[in-house]
Amino acid sequence: MSDQRLVLAYSGGLDTSVAIRWLAEQKGYEVIACAVDVGQAEKGEMDRVRQRAMDCGAADAVVVDARTEFAEDFVSSAIAANALYMGKYPLVSALSRPLITRHLVRAARETGAQVIAHGCTGKGNDQVRFELTAMAIAPDLKVEAPIREWGLSRDAAIAWAGERSIPIPVKKDSPYSIDENLWGRTAECGILEDPWASPPEEVYARSVPAEQAPDTPEELTLTFEQGRPVAIDGDKHDLAELIAEVDRRAGAHGVGRIDMIEDRLVGIKSREVYECPGAMTILRAHRDLEDLCLEQELAQEKRGLEGRYAQLIYNGLWFTPLKRALDAFIAESQQVVDGEVRVRLYKGSASVAGRRSPVGLYDHDLATYDEADQFDQTQAEGFVKLWGLPTKVWARRQGQR
Ligand code: ARG
Repeated sequence: MSDQRLVLAYSGGLDTSVAIRWLAEQKGYEVIACAVDVGQAEKGEMDRVRQRAMDCGAADAVVVDARTEFAEDFVSSAIAANALYMGKYPLVSALSRPLITRHLVRAARETGAQVIAHGCTGKGNDQVRFELTAMAIAPDLKVEAPIREWGLSRDAAIAWAGERSIPIPVKKDSPYSIDENLWGRTAECGILEDPWASPPEEVYARSVPAEQAPDTPEELTLTFEQGRPVAIDGDKHDLAELIAEVDRRAGAHGVGRIDMIEDRLVGIKSREVYECPGAMTILRAHRDLEDLCLEQELAQEKRGLEGRYAQLIYNGLWFTPLKRALDAFIAESQQVVDGEVRVRLYKGSASVAGRRSPVGLYDHDLATYDEADQFDQTQAEGFVKLWGLPTKVWARRQGQR
């Protein structure tokens, strides 16, 4: 056990690169950098990230390929819950932070470290997610937040690194703060801080502008088993692969761009630009299939809970009793969400063109207006009378006032 050994969540970017050195120099820590691949990295990139951590002065650096774990343990729950914060944001960063923290804790346990650290500022949600996850799964560990504590501007950080010849990531200088994973991409800062200004095209990386999308629509059939997408056009994929493939196909049609004003937990309204072609396509299809398969009382209750569930995730409450209880409810609801959805991708939209299910509750003979009609309309008269009885009583006594 060592209280001078620390595991830092390392992204390879400027902030966490200087944080390695700062933690060592100012606080005397032996820093172990932990870089988690949640689908943001191109092939070979994580090796470079690991080397960069060592070059910045880490005592050791570990790289974790967590793409499958991210898809299975985190994104799949978000799909089942149709989770969209403020009805819009599919929780890209919010989903990854509990997972990254889980790996920091694992690395701490393996190396005997008693401290973990993140590179978040004090103005965002990510600090909350890291620290609440740590409190929930490893309340004995101490958390350091070097960037929040240090409060350096970007230019000052570059100068500080220059004085010490710390190899600053040689990425092309971008005014944007980007976070990325399998479920989507987030962009903040620069001109985006003017909520009236249109996001420049250079902000986007996973989609074409709708006006440049192909003139012919493309159809994609998604198969779901118990609420989980398992195949595209009949071909089975594991979840991480399936998401990446839908992302690619939907992005080529300009699907999934989101420009919104967001309520951060720390009280700030911020302008956020997201790019989530795969997420928005899968969520649209999943929700539609639920409309076919879920009995209406259950469906209504679930819709009411979905916003709350998204809010819990957004607010860093992944590992909490309420989240767990809601998971049990959602898992029960998903037992019958089996079937296929045809999604039409065209000029920036993913719309449902058809759906079917072996356990769907659509009954043609009840719905039809043709001869096959099995619905006994004579019973409707009495039903309407009783349904309207309270309204009628009220109208007679009080409604005229
Ligand atoms: N506003 C989004 C959220 O709170 C995105 C955060 C992106 N994080 C980052 N470090 N750039 O989930």
